Amino acid sequence: MRGLPKANDLCWCGSGQKFKRCHKASSDPVRPGRVTPLRPVPDEIAKPMWADGSEVARWDEPAVKSADIIERMRRTGREAADLLTYLGTLIKPGVTTEEIDAACHERAIAVGAYPSPLGYPGGRNPFPKSLCTSVNEVICHGIPDDRQLKDGDIVNCDVTLFREGVHGDTNATFFVGSIDELSDRLVRVTRECTRKGIEAARPGNLINDIGRAIQRHAESNGFGVVRDFVGHGIGEQFHTDLQICHYYHPGLDIPIEEGMTFTIEPMITVGSYRAHMWSDHWTAVTADRGRTAQFEHTVLITADGAEILTTPTDPTLHPYWTLA
Ligand code: MF3
Ligand code: CO
Ligand code: CO
Repeated sequence: MRGLPKANDLCWCGSGQKFKRCHKASSDPVRPGRVTPLRPVPDEIAKPMWADGSEVARWDEPAVKSADIIERMRRTGREAADLLTYLGTLIKPGVTTEEIDAACHERAIAVGAYPSPLGYPGGRNPFPKSLCTSVNEVICHGIPDDRQLKDGDIVNCDVTLFREGVHGDTNATFFVGSIDELSDRLVRVTRECTRKGIEAARPGNLINDIGRAIQRHAESNGFGVVRDFVGHGIGEQFHTDLQICHYYHPGLDIPIEEGMTFTIEPMITVGSYRAHMWSDHWTAVTADRGRTAQFEHTVLITADGAEILTTPTDPTLHPYWTLA
């Protein structure tokens, strides 16, 4: 399907209901807002190479990490998770995504970390903010701006920190005020998809078992799995060349080995999984403007499973652990 169906058209989901009574997206789509200038990062914070406008140098980072790197990733991962948990406490109607960005930027620096998205190359211009905020039909890479969160919105905050020479990448979708039933189910199922993906991430399995588990759960609930954005190897580099598809991809018949670190970050949609890009070359929205949600963790493969490196100090305050 291209574009948005009319209110009285039959819904694309096959329910036989009118679109307006079924999967209709929010009555006012998210639109680009005003973006403030780049925030500086003090000299004493150690920075990734893109902080000064350099290209991202890519190298062949081993997928299996040393004990030393793992220790550093544990600390950076927990710091990212604590920051994400804190940002969740700020979310309420009337707050702008710009204010969430300011809080993220300030707290990252306060704990001696660089907010990895800031200045990250891609699109046409480097990413201009310190985290991604993706509202309603925005799949990922939303740029914080002056849009106020509204009662009934869902917003994903994606935090990545760089500290001790390694990255920790994690996100969660938060409710703003009270939520319609479909959005509520979407967010819960997305969180379950992430959990099932993490459960499939263990030695003896293949990388494509992760996507298989996620896709099965999403589709059995009538939801779609985004193809255009995937999880990734992570460590000294933000994104290594290891790709973690969230759908079954036969080519990813790569054994999962103890010591690997990567992200699992399924983006799940109520309707079409197809993505469109805004003209800012960052913001990805669903082609049908239906809502979408995401949860992300950085995981370490252990002898018998996956350790979530982005576990906060107090998980009882974090939706991944508290959503029923
Ligand atoms: N955190 C995102 C991920 O999960 C990447 C954001 S890159 C940015 O991979 F430049 F958009 F911030
Ligand atoms: Co990621
Ligand atoms: Co992320």
